[in-house]
Amino acid sequence: MHCKIAIDGPAGSGKTTVAKLIAQYLGMDYLDTGAMYRIIGLFLHQLGLSPKDNSLEKYLEDAKIDYKDGHFYLNGRLVGDEIRTPEVGMYASDFASHADVRNFLTRMQKEICKDRSIVAEGRDIGTVVMPDANVKIFLVASPEVRAKRRYDELRDKGIDVTYEELLEQIIERDKNDSTRDIAPLSKADDAIEIDTSKLNVQQVVDKIIEVVKERCML
Ligand code: C5P
Repeated sequence: MHCKIAIDGPAGSGKTTVAKLIAQYLGMDYLDTGAMYRIIGLFLHQLGLSPKDNSLEKYLEDAKIDYKDGHFYLNGRLVGDEIRTPEVGMYASDFASHADVRNFLTRMQKEICKDRSIVAEGRDIGTVVMPDANVKIFLVASPEVRAKRRYDELRDKGIDVTYEELLEQIIERDKNDSTRDIAPLSKADDAIEIDTSKLNVQQVVDKIIEVVKERCML
């Protein structure tokens, strides 16, 4: 039996750290769907396009994303930390409300998640990408805690940002992501909500592993 784990939540709720550790611990594949929105957001922005453009389909045909051994390639080129900046996060969030972008990426994500055990993280995994997931987790934390986490993470990567700028962007992205018409950030009815504000990473991981063991009979 394949075990599918969906981890959703807003920016900075701890999804990536937690999802990677769970995948590693359980020896499962891992998919960061936010990275795909970032890749496409940057790609379309560099073409001078806007989320307000009616049709983006024909441009998306020129974006070939490959996912191999946990790494993304765009048109044959390895994607790196250039997608991790706050600006690219905003392009991702802006273009993520476009139906063509969502159709294009959702199709690809469903294909990647098919017929395998996987931990996938994003905004609509439990609701759209893997509505049949065995375990659905929705992580939340206060905007201040999330901005501080992002700040530490980006400074560690040598990316120059201020806490205030990140807090502002987190609040704006939350608004964008939860109010868009298609696949908004929302908790699936059958998801378990965990507030990570006052928990450390290991405590969150342990809580989720407990549920996984039960549901996936590991
Ligand atoms: O998770 P991350 O912060 O890298 O995601 C960047 C943006 O991509 C989000 O703000 C959101 O707008 C979009 N996204 C999405 N659906 C997903 C994953 C990410 O709309 N499943």
